[in-house]
Amino acid sequence: MVQVAIMGYGTIGSGVAEILEKNRDAVAAAVGEEVVLKYVLDLREFPGSPVEDKLIHEFHIIEEDPEIDVVVETMGGLNPSYPFVKASLLAGKHVATSNKALVAAYGTELLAIAREKGVNFFFEASVGGGIPIIRPLYRCLSGEKIEEITGILNGTTNYILTKMDQEGASFEDALKEAQELGYAERNPEADIEGYDSCRKIAILTAMATGHEVNFEDIYTEGITKITDVDFQYAERLGASIKLFGSSRMSGDEVHAWVAPVMIGRSHPLYAVSDVFNGILVKGNMLGVSMFYGSGAGKLPTASAVVADIIEAVQNKHANVKIGWDEKRLAIADMGSASWRYFVRIAGDKEQKEKAENIFGHVEMMDTGDAEEFAILTDEMRETDFQKRAAAFGEDRIRQRIRAEL
Ligand code: HSE
Repeated sequence: MVQVAIMGYGTIGSGVAEILEKNRDAVAAAVGEEVVLKYVLDLREFPGSPVEDKLIHEFHIIEEDPEIDVVVETMGGLNPSYPFVKASLLAGKHVATSNKALVAAYGTELLAIAREKGVNFFFEASVGGGIPIIRPLYRCLSGEKIEEITGILNGTTNYILTKMDQEGASFEDALKEAQELGYAERNPEADIEGYDSCRKIAILTAMATGHEVNFEDIYTEGITKITDVDFQYAERLGASIKLFGSSRMSGDEVHAWVAPVMIGRSHPLYAVSDVFNGILVKGNMLGVSMFYGSGAGKLPTASAVVADIIEAVQNKHANVKIGWDEKRLAIADMGSASWRYFVRIAGDKEQKEKAENIFGHVEMMDTGDAEEFAILTDEMRETDFQKRAAAFGEDRIRQRIRAEL
């Protein structure tokens, strides 16, 4: 029998408890012995809940109990999750976490402790919720040189952008609806400003390259400036706008960024709508592979945590080679990346001529609004675009969105 403790009985933690109970036979069959939930650590009481008799309020009980083999961290945030996870690993316990903030901030150190102690630190649920992506990277794709990972990594923003695209909703209305449905937090900043996607692409980039990635080095732009008017133009182009987290490896150069991107219908991620996530991985031998599914939510995310528990128990006495080393990856400057640019400009005929002179060959379009038009430039480096935009006059530029069309 293997005994497990869950730290944090919120949405994901209660999902893990539920799966361990409902899928008890499947889990036992996978590991060859029974997996039993012994403790649930939470500050709150849960009278009448199925884990009422397992509730504890003090971490040291888990840390000091030699019967606990696996600790699940589903508290979120960094404090006290970081000291609790670190102490669990140092006490020789395996850890499975869904906490992307923890993995992005302290993954390097926690992976090193796990290696030293001969235990495992797993975090499948930290990226893409229930979508298998961490394990495919270190198992199925381990013989590949990863050239690109591009994902729609945040369900809340994907829901908002889908509403704007398909129903012509404004950003504010779509956000309100996402909050009413419980997708977006009351304070939705981490989702809509791209911070959540940033941590996720940092983890994926570190997995793909084998080196530590400082998420603060990743250029991050959210969706708060995207408007319904942008989607009117996108429709004319047969395109949509998605929030991408991406890393692209070319020789020694690695670009990693989070930004809204205009993409056409033929893009593999175009059809990833609503709260779903999709992750495209390009390997040098494999070519493109796509991972799609529920990137958030109680049971999908908890399912990924349970898979980590199973792998930890299957490797009870060995550290599975996973993750990255302490050498920090240099992320190339965003200015050296190249795109086409969709640009909305205030003005009429005279400004159109000026736009052609300054931006070079462009596709022109309008929505019937006499006061503005839009251009789609040819591909150019970001620094080059910035110089041209400055020469044009930033005050007339109402919007610019990178485009992969
Ligand atoms: N807030 C996140 C999202 C939850 O909307 O995708 C999953 O990480």
